[in-house]
Amino acid sequence: MKTKNYYITTPIYYPSGKPHMGHAYSSIIADVIARYKRLEGYKVYFLTGTDEHGLKIQREAEKNKKKTQIFCDELSKKFKELTKILNLSNNDFIRTTEKRHYNSVEDLWNKLVESGDIYLDKYKGWYSVSDEAYYDSDEIEDKNNCKVSIVSGSKVEWVEEESYFFKLSSWSKKLLEHYKSNPGFILPVSRNNEVVKFVEKGLKDLSVSRTSFSWGIPVPKNKKHVIYVWLDALTNYLSAINYPDTSSDLYKEFWPADLHIIGKDILRFHAIYWPAFLMAAKLPLPKRIFGHGWILSDEKKMSKSLGNILDPIDIIEKYGIDQLRYYLIKEVSLGNDGNISLENLKNCINNDLANNYGNLCQRVFSFIKKNCENKIPKSNDFSKNDKALTNKLKNNVQKLNELINRQDLNNYIKQVIEHSFDSNKYFNDSEPWSLKKTDTKKMYSVLHSIVEQIKNISILLLPIIPDSANKILDIINVDKNLRIISEINKNNNLNHDKELGNIEILFRKVE
Ligand code: ME8
Ligand code: MG
Repeated sequence: MKTKNYYITTPIYYPSGKPHMGHAYSSIIADVIARYKRLEGYKVYFLTGTDEHGLKIQREAEKNKKKTQIFCDELSKKFKELTKILNLSNNDFIRTTEKRHYNSVEDLWNKLVESGDIYLDKYKGWYSVSDEAYYDSDEIEDKNNCKVSIVSGSKVEWVEEESYFFKLSSWSKKLLEHYKSNPGFILPVSRNNEVVKFVEKGLKDLSVSRTSFSWGIPVPKNKKHVIYVWLDALTNYLSAINYPDTSSDLYKEFWPADLHIIGKDILRFHAIYWPAFLMAAKLPLPKRIFGHGWILSDEKKMSKSLGNILDPIDIIEKYGIDQLRYYLIKEVSLGNDGNISLENLKNCINNDLANNYGNLCQRVFSFIKKNCENKIPKSNDFSKNDKALTNKLKNNVQKLNELINRQDLNNYIKQVIEHSFDSNKYFNDSEPWSLKKTDTKKMYSVLHSIVEQIKNISILLLPIIPDSANKILDIINVDKNLRIISEINKNNNLNHDKELGNIEILFRKVE
């Protein structure tokens, strides 16, 4: 049987400062999808990493009086550590200062030269070092005697220097055709419309090299220039799967990528420049670019320059990683900007995790321990109510699957937790404690059904709260290989012979 493959990426982050909640957010979104696709039976390649070249990094290193490479090594390490702290299931972590990446970027550059898409000229215009982006004069404004980008608010400076250009202008039509014939290439739809509008205005050729600093990959055959950091950075998605060795297994299995998860701040680079570079190099385009919104704190984008950063590591130490993962995925609307606050985090932990899913598992397991010799009772005579409960979830699996494949993680999680809510209600209404005296057979069917339900809910929660959901599945002795989506619709696959594992409180309520 041919395995189904799935390649998903996060942006590679600038190691210009330590990682913050926005970085954690993108990475967690990608991880949830990667984990789900594995549960669905896909062979998944999940990539993240750091973007280490360019003037922004060079200046930051100078400010910190460090050698640029050492500065990158230290901060990239923090991002790598964060992957462990966030419990990411990434298969690789790429750094653009690695040799494998140089080979890949040089090859792509050469392809663009060969295809006639690169020429030498002079760049005159605005540049934002903070965004590593060129802006037209109609994209900037005056603010406190400073020229800033209208969209990002970051300072721009005037640049005039010899530069290689990529013939972006000649790709407008092809790009528009691609957007049109591939609905879902850019999601959400609002982002797609933004991009289409921008491209319809016509694209200018793009400066793709710089001569006024040196921290980058030299242009092959003209070492005076370094390659524009975005051309360099985007290529990471190829370097990690062994490009230019297109005969390697990794490349053959995983290119084109299925999904680039990015923040909306870097949409233009991914949805316009990247497909144009790839088309020019005659390489297949990724299947989807999903641009999520910003996490706001006090209604403003969280960013280092604004100093309104919620530190993910502090929050995880205090509240737990699954708690943070759950909160970000459930409460921040994926396509839009969303405020986060400690208050909401605590409410979410208490309402959904402690009082709902956690409580459900706790009370069911305690009841079984006390009344059934700590083994899941087996029934083959289920009531209408029992079936209504378990079938409702089973009948929803297809729909949940579609939600994930549309990256609608908010609704996915809302529906899953709704099943948990239903289950608590069913447990209350069925009153197994009364049945104990009147109808033990019926009590068994209730307990059998509710544990089956807990198993299924836990499988569906694995992508979001992997540690906690695995603990629950351990307690009820679900085989590691059977913690997959396709098991949800199978009957009679609980372990009734082995005693339940030790019950611990998974989610403590927080004040
Ligand atoms: O742009 N809310 O790196 P970067 C949500 N190196 N997400 C946020 C966020 C916020 N407040 N702040 C940052 C770069 N992010 C380039 C990318 S890819 C080839 C190169 C997330 O360190 C979001 O995904 O500035 C955003 O796109 C990314 O971090 C930018 O990280
Ligand atoms: Mg940024």
